[in-house]
Amino acid sequence: MDPIDVQAAGGGIAQQPADCLVVELAEDARRLTGVAAQVDTALRGAIAAMLRDGLITGRAGEVVSVPTGGRVPAKRVVVHGTGKDARTIDQLRRQAGNLARALRGLNAGRVALSTEAATDRLDPEDAARALTEGFALGLYRFDRHHTRAEDRPRGAVSALTLVEPAPRKLAAVRRGVEVGRVLADATNLTRDLANEPANLMTPTIVAERAQAVAAAGGLECTIIERAEAERLGMGSYLSVANGSSQPPKFIVLRYRGGGRTRPLGLVGKGITFDTGGISLKPGAGMERMKGDMTGAAAVIGAMQAIAALAPAVNVLAVAPCTENMPSGSATKPGDVVYAMDGQSIEVLNTDAEGRLVLADGLAYARRQGCAALVDVATLTGAMSIALGNVRIGTFANNDRLYQDLERAAAACGERLWRMPLDAEYGELIKSDVADIKNTAGPAAGSITAAKFLERFVGDTPWAHLDIAGVMDSTSDTGVLVKGNTGAPVRTLVHLALARARA
Ligand code: BES
Ligand code: MN
Ligand code: ZN
Repeated sequence: MDPIDVQAAGGGIAQQPADCLVVELAEDARRLTGVAAQVDTALRGAIAAMLRDGLITGRAGEVVSVPTGGRVPAKRVVVHGTGKDARTIDQLRRQAGNLARALRGLNAGRVALSTEAATDRLDPEDAARALTEGFALGLYRFDRHHTRAEDRPRGAVSALTLVEPAPRKLAAVRRGVEVGRVLADATNLTRDLANEPANLMTPTIVAERAQAVAAAGGLECTIIERAEAERLGMGSYLSVANGSSQPPKFIVLRYRGGGRTRPLGLVGKGITFDTGGISLKPGAGMERMKGDMTGAAAVIGAMQAIAALAPAVNVLAVAPCTENMPSGSATKPGDVVYAMDGQSIEVLNTDAEGRLVLADGLAYARRQGCAALVDVATLTGAMSIALGNVRIGTFANNDRLYQDLERAAAACGERLWRMPLDAEYGELIKSDVADIKNTAGPAAGSITAAKFLERFVGDTPWAHLDIAGVMDSTSDTGVLVKGNTGAPVRTLVHLALARARA
C-alpha cells in the first residue's frame, strides 16, 4: 500500500487547498469557537445551524459532512466529535484511526485537519505524532492480491495536512508529523511483510526485503546462509530448517549511530510458516501461521525507522528465518541438537520451534557484544490465553531494561505486562538426556518458553516480548485493521531513541 502523504501547515484552515476540511467539536459545546467558528463564518452559519438543530452533537467518533457550496476551496467540511472528556494521547491516536477510515468511506480525497482541539491541552508534538500515526495506521490495508478493483475497499484519503493555528506550536507539530510518519511507515512495512502469505514471503524473500530496507536507509546487511550457519554451530536454528525445501536465511542488520559503544540487540523470530513440523498442528486456522515471522518483520521495520530517525546509538538486528515443515528430513521428537554456545537441547516437540531459532539468534547477538538484548516472538499460544490481544507479555532479567521498555511502550500506545521468571519454572525444562528440553508440560507454557530463552543470554540485560496474543486483529478498530498489527515496532524504536538520549 502506498503510504499516505502527511504534511503540517500553519495559518487558517478555511483557505487550505484540500477537498475536505476537518474541524473538531466537543460534546455539549453550546457554541462554536476558534477554528470551528471561523469555518462556520465562511459557511455563513451552516455548522452553527446544524448544531442548533441537533444534527451535530460532538459525540465521540461522530463524523458529519457539511457541503460548502463553493464558499471555501474545499468541497466539504467534516465536523468530528471528540466527546465529553479531555482526550489522552492514546485516545487521540485511536480516534484518528477511526476518523481516517470514516473519511475514506466518504471518499474525502485531500484532507486538511485542524489541530487546534488536539494541541489545546496536549503536548503539540505528541498530539501531531498521534494524529499522524492514527491516520497512517488506520488507513492501512493489505489488498494487493485482489486483482479486481471492485474487491478492494472503495474511497480514498490521498493526503493529510495538519493545520496548526498557533504559530508558536507549528515547529512542534512539524516534528510530530515527521516522526509519526516514520513510525507509521515502519509499522505498515512490518504489517506488509507479515500479512503476505508464506508462499510469497519465504526466508529468501524476507532476506531480500531486509536488504532493500538496508540499501534505502544506509544500514549494513549480512545474510548468513546455511553453510555459514553450520560453521558457526547454529545447530538449534538449523534443526528447524531440516524439513523445509526453502533455504534458511539468518538476517543481520546493523545501524551505526553510537560510535564505539556496544549495540542494542534486537532479535526477531522469523518462522515464515509454522506447520508444527513432525509435531504437526491441527489444520483449522493453520493459515494464521504465515504470521509467525512477525518478530522478524518487527525488527526489520524498527530498523527502517531507526535509520530514518538516526539516533546516537548502535543497534544490531538479528532475524533467524526459516520455515517449520514436516518431511523425510525433518527433525523428529526426541532428537538432540546443539546451539552455537554449545548447549544441548532435546527437541521433544517440533512445534516449539521458535525458542530453537531464538536460542541461536540470542547467542549470536550476545557474541556480537550487545549491551542489551530484546527479542520479539510469536512464541506461545499460552500467551494469548494469559493476556489476550491487549497486552504484550514481557519477560526481563533486568529491571532497568523493563522500565525503559515500559516507558517506550507508553510513548506510543502499546501496552506491556511483566511476566515472572522465577527459578522454579526453570526446573521444568531440565532434560533427562540433554542440557535442556524444548517443552515442559502445559503449565505456565509462556514462562517455561521464556526460561528456555534465558539460558542463552548469560548475564546480558535481556527482555523477551511474546507477541503471540497481539500479532493480529480480527477487526478494524482505532489504529488496528484486520490482519497483522505491526506490534511492537514503535516500542522498539522508542527504546532505541531513549537509549540515544541516555
Ligand atoms: N507459533 C506458535 C505460537 C503461536 C500460536 C503464535 C498461535 C501465534 C498464534 C509456536 O511456535 C507454537 O507452536 N507454540 C506451541 C508451543 C508448545 C508446543 C509448547 C504452542 O503454543 O502450542
Ligand atoms: Mn510452533
Ligand atoms: Zn511458531
